[in-house]
Amino acid sequence: MIEIKNIEKIYPNGTIALSKISLNVEKGDFVVLMGESGAGKTTLLKIIHSEEAPTTGSIIYEGEDIRNIPSTVLRRKIGFAYQDFMLIEDRTVFENISLPLQITGEPYKSLSNRVKTALKAMKLENKTFKLVKELSGGEKQRVSIARALISNPEVLLLDEPTGNLDNDTAKEIILYIEAMNEKGTTVIMSTHHIIDWDSKPKKILKLKNGRILKKDYA
Ligand SMILES: Nc1ncnc2c1ncn2[C@@H]1O[C@H](COP(=O)(O)OP(=O)(O)O)[C@@H](O)[C@H]1O
Ligand SMILES: [Mg+2]
Repeated sequence: MIEIKNIEKIYPNGTIALSKISLNVEKGDFVVLMGESGAGKTTLLKIIHSEEAPTTGSIIYEGEDIRNIPSTVLRRKIGFAYQDFMLIEDRTVFENISLPLQITGEPYKSLSNRVKTALKAMKLENKTFKLVKELSGGEKQRVSIARALISNPEVLLLDEPTGNLDNDTAKEIILYIEAMNEKGTTVIMSTHHIIDWDSKPKKILKLKNGRILKKDYA
């Protein structure tokens, strides 16, 4: 489904963030990118999302180079929950989450239903009309995940989705993401700590200093 082909990323300041990264992601996979801070996890996710261009190499999405896929089309297929949330602080949770659907002209009723479902899944129903700036870090993180899954994407990119959550909440969120994966959503998720996984095997990829240290397809 996604072919990551020999990706190298050198930032303008000379930092080599990724080198020689190749990986095939199949539909329905649950890929975990592991690695310490600075390993290149965020850079790789942004390249898959076509927000950063690789210096060399390419990403092929269902047979097509993502450079040739219009960003509006790609954004519908791939949801991204950012490590630093990227939410609009002085707007409500509802407004932040519904934004991707407003852009595509979704009718209000179904938009509102989808927001409700996503917020329920993230245990945030009681925060719907709160301003984002009134939320805790963990709540913001869950709003960012809810926004990523609102348009029912084929692929979900999650950048350290449990980084700001307490253990119990993290566990619940992971269970929910695993359930989405069971229903067919392809998941690529980064983390810098060991997670207590449920039963389904994951494709684990260990990154260090921008290189693949280990492909551990358990
Ligand atoms: N916009 C940028 N400009 C220059 N260097 C960057 C930029 N973003 C990330 N880096 C560098 O690239 C490397 C990988 O960063 P990143 O992908 O954020 O790693 P991780 O998400 O695993 O912590 C780090 O050395 C980081 O400092
Ligand atoms: Mg990161």
